[in-house]
Amino acid sequence: MTAFRVAMNFVRPSLDTAAPNALEVALTDDVLVVHGGTPLEGRIRVRGAKNLVSKAMVAALLGDTPSRLFDVPRIRDVEVVRGLLGLHGVKVSDGDEEGELVFDPTNVESASTDQINVHAGSSRIPILFCGPLLHRLGHAFIPDLGGCHIGPRPIDFHLQALREFGATVEKTPEGLHLSAPNGLHGTKFALPYPSVGATEQVLLTAVMAEGVTELRNAAVEPEIIDLICVLQKMGAIIKVHTDRVIEIQGVKRLHGYTHRPIPDRIEAASWAAAALATRGHVEVLGAQQADMMTFLNIFRSVGGEYEVTDLRPPRGGSPGQEGGIRFWHPGGELNAVALETDVHPGFMTDWQQPLVVALTQARGLSIVHETVYEQRLGYTEALNTMGANIQVYRDCLGGTPCRFGRRNFKHSAVIAGPSKLHAADLVIPDLRAGFSHLIAALAAEGTSRVYGVDLINRGYEDFEAKLADLGAHVERP
Ligand code: EPZ
Repeated sequence: MTAFRVAMNFVRPSLDTAAPNALEVALTDDVLVVHGGTPLEGRIRVRGAKNLVSKAMVAALLGDTPSRLFDVPRIRDVEVVRGLLGLHGVKVSDGDEEGELVFDPTNVESASTDQINVHAGSSRIPILFCGPLLHRLGHAFIPDLGGCHIGPRPIDFHLQALREFGATVEKTPEGLHLSAPNGLHGTKFALPYPSVGATEQVLLTAVMAEGVTELRNAAVEPEIIDLICVLQKMGAIIKVHTDRVIEIQGVKRLHGYTHRPIPDRIEAASWAAAALATRGHVEVLGAQQADMMTFLNIFRSVGGEYEVTDLRPPRGGSPGQEGGIRFWHPGGELNAVALETDVHPGFMTDWQQPLVVALTQARGLSIVHETVYEQRLGYTEALNTMGANIQVYRDCLGGTPCRFGRRNFKHSAVIAGPSKLHAADLVIPDLRAGFSHLIAALAAEGTSRVYGVDLINRGYEDFEAKLADLGAHVERP
């Protein structure tokens, strides 16, 4: 009965239509009690980027000898990919170093659709198995995808690219069946939008396709460049030209790699935003300036302070010498800012939700124009019930009209501040919005209950232990 009563009062964003049903979540007892109002203080470490690690794991399928990946975080996406690799005959084992995984792909084999479907709806990474499985087995089955509910998230660019390479794609109610009866051949292809996933799809397919592939309007996020580094270590020939053009010369064989991934710049920014919103001081070990420059500029414009404590050259040095970036609230008032999310080198869409919580504490009107996903502002409703003053608009409130301007999506927000946040019962709608709910609860006066927190484990390793290290007053009831 308690769960029923609580469910009735949940704050649930209406735009995230596919967000978990409040009652369903309530009944799982997956709740964190957050006693807010205490600044986060201390030091935590981020490991390999979620959005690189999972792709590097898929790349291991392409090699004919074992690969080693270091600094792999214990998060749900890694478990899903590990499970799918295992089903396809890749032996995945723990290496000597904490966080090291070893992949042995010498006996790649087919898996049944039933076995693969166990992972249906759990992640978006399975779509990237297409190219590697077509190369290794000549066919592939891809289950229904999961991932965050932040818009329709179609896979049309992926499928179009695969067809250009010569794959046949059959959509069935149980998932996608692909084959390549005549092999995969290099192609010239331009993406309608610089999609991260579709660029990775092309890379993972083109490296062993016959001939040359030219990809135009490619995504060039640091995670993509790191994936290119992985593939190059395996024997691939990939040229990154200016103006988003990537050229790949297909090779007949690839071998294993040894790689330490770039650190998770989304997690680093999330903790930075948490430090600012709670008027705290957090050092994020592992955070790298080069990959976070756009975030750092906005952080400083808002009035946050930071110091780069990592004195190693970018991507260099040994793990023992690790520094990072120290973020803090210097006292006084924060400033309102106008920002637009965009593809790299723009302000990442995944940095948006955590930072907006800090913007509720800034004096004046901040403007956020979300141009990457059409439904990534639904979580602001929950912040409003906590005392924030955020209005969302269908118009493009940034400098540039985006793809969503005439399509009726509420994708711009005006945040009026500062607002005193108070505690509430919240249901987590998706990964990054979930972390923003958590930050809001930490910044608010009083005791909040945050339901569905397990979703945060999809992308934030040991977040509860890290909260404890930073002095947050949180508990499982
Ligand atoms: C990746 O998603 C990340 N996920 C996302 O992080 C991140 O927000 C996003 O890139 C942008 O940086 C992973 O790496 C696992 P896209 P992805 O293809 O690859 C449209 C997180 O919380 N599009 O670049 O799925 C799409 O709808 C997650 O860690 C098509 O229209 O993103 C979106 O509007 C959330 N058709 C835009 O492109 C397609 O076939 C960008 O999506 C593919 C994409």
